[in-house]
Amino acid sequence: MRLLPSAAGVGSRQAQKSVPPAFRVETWGCQMNILDGERMSGQLLSRGFQQAGDANSADVILLNTCAIREKAEAKVYSALGRLAERKRENPELVIGVTGCMAQVQGDQILERAPWVDFVAGPGEVERVAELVEKTRLERKHLLALELPTDSPVYQFRDIRRESRFSAFVTIIEGCDQFCTFCIVPFTRGRERSRRATEIMEEVESLVAIGYSEITLLGQTVNAYRDPENGDGFGSLLRRVSSVPGLRRLRFLTSHPIFVDATMIDALGAGGNIAPYLHLPAQSGSSRTLYRMKRRYDASGYVDIVSRIRREVPGVALSSDFIVGFPGETETDFQETLTLVRELRFASVFAFCYSPRPGTAAARWGSEKTIPPPEAADRLSRLLALQEELQAETNRALVGRRFEVLVEDAQPGKLSRGRTACNRVIHFDDSLAGLQAGAYISVEVTRGLPNSLLGTVAA
Ligand code: SAH
Ligand code: SF4
Ligand code: F3S
Repeated sequence: MRLLPSAAGVGSRQAQKSVPPAFRVETWGCQMNILDGERMSGQLLSRGFQQAGDANSADVILLNTCAIREKAEAKVYSALGRLAERKRENPELVIGVTGCMAQVQGDQILERAPWVDFVAGPGEVERVAELVEKTRLERKHLLALELPTDSPVYQFRDIRRESRFSAFVTIIEGCDQFCTFCIVPFTRGRERSRRATEIMEEVESLVAIGYSEITLLGQTVNAYRDPENGDGFGSLLRRVSSVPGLRRLRFLTSHPIFVDATMIDALGAGGNIAPYLHLPAQSGSSRTLYRMKRRYDASGYVDIVSRIRREVPGVALSSDFIVGFPGETETDFQETLTLVRELRFASVFAFCYSPRPGTAAARWGSEKTIPPPEAADRLSRLLALQEELQAETNRALVGRRFEVLVEDAQPGKLSRGRTACNRVIHFDDSLAGLQAGAYISVEVTRGLPNSLLGTVAA
């Protein structure tokens, strides 16, 4: 391994130890951010750094942040507070803040936490290792906040993925929707699709080294359009699914307005395309959906779901909801409960609305604000309903057999895996002696609210 020049020169901690500098990447947020963190790790490894065993032994710490709700930002500032002390003890420590909060807060981070060395947004992931090296040499604050507008191209062979069998692959970056509550278009910039030839090359190279599950990523994954020939998401799904050796193909996150016939046909064709769709509704009230600028109404959403259910056998759907959106009345909220009751999602992620700087909804008058205790009450009512429905749905699966991808197998413990329809299942494999990454048939013996229990089928 190549040793990098140390900023502090002879006598420095690195020089004395004469071992490669160690780094740690701490990621918050969504799958896209996880993949960005894996890209950063890969770059640093290929430049001769090594992964730190624990946070205390790291010479470089990257906080790869999320800005989706206020709480996500508060967590980063408290992590930064803890790092101030470490930097005082070891002035050579490199601290970088990357990700979505880095993009929107920019130099405010350097003002509030001057012990941070650099701030780099999601458009600068490809440069993170370079920024680390520059900091080690020059020791001055760096800001990298450009958001690209071109079709993404990056060193995908360097990515250091956590899993050896399941990989995320970006197909589209950014978002052009500007939903009135959402900060993502400001943190990740304009929507841009990656060339299908490049995506195919990455997927083929992953399958060749043993990856069997691929999840295609984008904030509006089904808005994908190949910049070379204009082909849409449905045709990309079919192309990727044809890679020999690929067992499971997933994708996240679909926007209801981009669900079209070619996408549904591809899903309906089955094969290795998993019968699972995460399709955030956000609300069951058409009035609220209009004010969220989601571009569909409640009945439009129900129609899309009905059509998918008709044409894709065994499909499981999950959704996201925001409660306490400015101006949401109790009646609006009841419509959300009605939609959830009617559509019986396999799972639901629900959040209290959090105003985000720069978004349209954050500029609306405070008279529209829902008091936090009221929003919290709506959230717990929604979650209680979903838990009851989910328990029913899961109980109805008892006796069914599913192919399960084993995600965790440790002696003396129940193993954990996932069905193709993305349900978590715990099962005893003491006789089978399985390893993570294996596929096995499991029969469901119990349905709990948030998971299934099963036994390995003969
Ligand atoms: N691109 C996806 C969602 C990305 S963000 C889509 O269009 O659905 C993930 C989820 O976070 C969203 O679905 C939404 O439910 C929630 N979310 C986004 N902004 C939020 C905010 N300001 N307050 C609370 N929840 C929010
Ligand atoms: Fe945010 Fe809407 Fe874009 Fe999803 S589609 S990332 S919710 S702006
Ligand atoms: Fe968070 Fe950015 Fe993802 S705001 S949810 S890390 S796109």
